[in-house]
Amino acid sequence: MGVKHGLWVLNRSIWCYALLLGLSNCQAPSCTLPQFCRDGPIIDPRISNRVGNNPSQSRAQEVLVPNIVNPNPTPLPNCPPGYIPCVNVTCGSPTVQPSSQDGFATENSFPWQVFIRNNNNIAVKNGYAGGGVLLGQNYVLTAAHKISNLTSISVLLGVYRTNNLVNVQTSQVAQAWIHSNYNPTYLKNDIAILRLATPININENAMPICLPTSGSSFIGSPSTACVVSGWGQTSFALDDAPTQTLKQVHVPIVTNDQCSASYTTILGPTNAAAYLDFPNEICAGGQAQLDSCTQDGGSPLVCSTIPGQFNLVGLVLWGKDCGQPGRYGVYLNVPVYLSWIQCMFQCIAGNSNCAACPARRYL
Ligand SMILES: *[C@@H]1O[C@H](CO)[C@@H](O)[C@H](O)[C@H]1NC(C)=O
Ligand SMILES: *[C@@H]1O[C@H](CO)[C@@H](O)[C@H](O)[C@H]1NC(C)=O
Repeated sequence: MGVKHGLWVLNRSIWCYALLLGLSNCQAPSCTLPQFCRDGPIIDPRISNRVGNNPSQSRAQEVLVPNIVNPNPTPLPNCPPGYIPCVNVTCGSPTVQPSSQDGFATENSFPWQVFIRNNNNIAVKNGYAGGGVLLGQNYVLTAAHKISNLTSISVLLGVYRTNNLVNVQTSQVAQAWIHSNYNPTYLKNDIAILRLATPININENAMPICLPTSGSSFIGSPSTACVVSGWGQTSFALDDAPTQTLKQVHVPIVTNDQCSASYTTILGPTNAAAYLDFPNEICAGGQAQLDSCTQDGGSPLVCSTIPGQFNLVGLVLWGKDCGQPGRYGVYLNVPVYLSWIQCMFQCIAGNSNCAACPARRYL
């Protein structure tokens, strides 16, 4: 068949055939610095498999199947100079690895860290409302309790020093969805997803975190593997958030029994049982002065499985005091919520009803 090569393989294809072909990894392209784009040549799905099973057969024997062409391909974004449209964006791989020394973070080591802003209070502390984590160019995950009282929200990416917002990208939040079973008293199912009005461009200081495998467990991970970042308070009694510079602390992820025993001592058995929500939560920390704290809520706990690459494991939720030895920070156990997150991507994209995920729209 007289088909030109250019029709067979669309390099850095911009077209999305998800609905037609049932591809789960189909996403709109984002503007990305070339070094953070992993798109290889993408086969135009209009082309069927080769005739027969012999992979060495010539292209001339491939068959054109024109009836599955998407009549409304996703348009290419207009990217700023130096950026390219990209579908398969690098995740969780900062250009500067987090330091092994805790305290102030190194710039660009947590490019997935989001600064959530209350638009109605920008004059105070730049409107700091809590932390969040970037999941793609259009989505931010956070704790429901950080946003459930806000009526107008924006997110900032690339914030390192909170008093210097140059090279920071800001997007308004177009939609906010909260887990339908969110319990604000005990902070159960304390998860929310924000759909951004303007996509984030992917670069050294703004990169999505990798999502973990559904149902995977990070319990027992040592503190060398896991690190939490945020601008929260430096002690329980001192409201100094957001700190001027992003901070980090490595924490081990302990067993549910260890955490339960600690909270039973601190809160008594009734309260400990009422507050702790395993396996939907995990506990981490326990070392003196090495802990997340008040106003770190919604910020990400990430663990490295492949050297140099981090997965989202937790979101800061709650704890009793901060940095006390033998006491643990309690985090949302993200792998348990992976199907909820994926359901939210699908329904917000218009492919299903978010009530089934289950989630309710808040903004
Ligand atoms: C993205 O690129 C990586 C690295 O080339 C590859 O391993 C992965 O399968 C790709 N993902 C998708 C969804 O194409
Ligand atoms: C949200 O508002 C309610 C009622 O105004 C208040 O009781 C609650 O403490 C607020 N929650 C947060 C997280 O600020």
